[in-house]
Amino acid sequence: MVDADATRRFYGRWAGLYDRVATAPGVGAWRAAATDALALSPGETVVEMGCGTGANLPYLRERVGPDGRVVGVDVTRGVLDRARRRVERRGWRNVHPVQADATRVPVDGPVDAVLGTFVCGMFPDPRGTVEGWLDLLAPGGRIALLDAGQSDRVAAAPLNLAFRAFVLASNPGRPRERLRRAVDGEGPWATLDERIAAASAAVTDRCVDRQSATFALGFVRLVAGRIPD
Ligand SMILES: C[S@@+](CC[C@H](N)C(=O)[O-])C[C@H]1O[C@@H](n2cnc3c(N)ncnc32)[C@H](O)[C@@H]1O
Repeated sequence: MVDADATRRFYGRWAGLYDRVATAPGVGAWRAAATDALALSPGETVVEMGCGTGANLPYLRERVGPDGRVVGVDVTRGVLDRARRRVERRGWRNVHPVQADATRVPVDGPVDAVLGTFVCGMFPDPRGTVEGWLDLLAPGGRIALLDAGQSDRVAAAPLNLAFRAFVLASNPGRPRERLRRAVDGEGPWATLDERIAAASAAVTDRCVDRQSATFALGFVRLVAGRIPD
């Protein structure tokens, strides 16, 4: 299991490279779909859990406008520094990147919406964590989770090998330990798939007006919903 220190070291070291991947052409369409699923209105408050370098912040800020509030939560200072620079460059006064652990609901609620992109696969107890996020929502509040996992489409089968290699390379933790576990057949991709399924189940069990979509041949999945009024 990857601990919080390993996560901080990994993302702190690779923050620059990660930011380029996070803002690569094509990724923006997935981010737009995830933020659209939150159905944000001007003036609302949205919290992004595991905001990384802030690639979603422009989409969220655009939707809540100057009178809303965007809080980005991440455990890694290196990525948050980049998120803060992004906020400063644009002069946004209502976007707040904060260093905290998203598994311990670090924000006072209720809030209108919660977003988590490419982060649920990193939590030891993804279902419990997402349940905590759902508890943070006001009645009628919305949640959207966007994650990458192995594709179950026949056409994507050969690409699952490439995806496994990507997961292995981008998984925090000691390289030798990661490789040993992969050789033993305990690849991190299987854990990733299980965690994403557990996080999604929390949304499907508790939410109404559920939405789901897949992108990139089924490698990227969106699940979203609304807490009943
Ligand atoms: C793959 S990156 C995704 C970043 C961003 N959501 C995006 O879509 O580009 C995962 C991020 O989750 C953060 N993270 C991992 N575990 C966390 C936790 N328990 N609390 C807050 N952030 C966490 C990492 O520091 C990293 O920035």
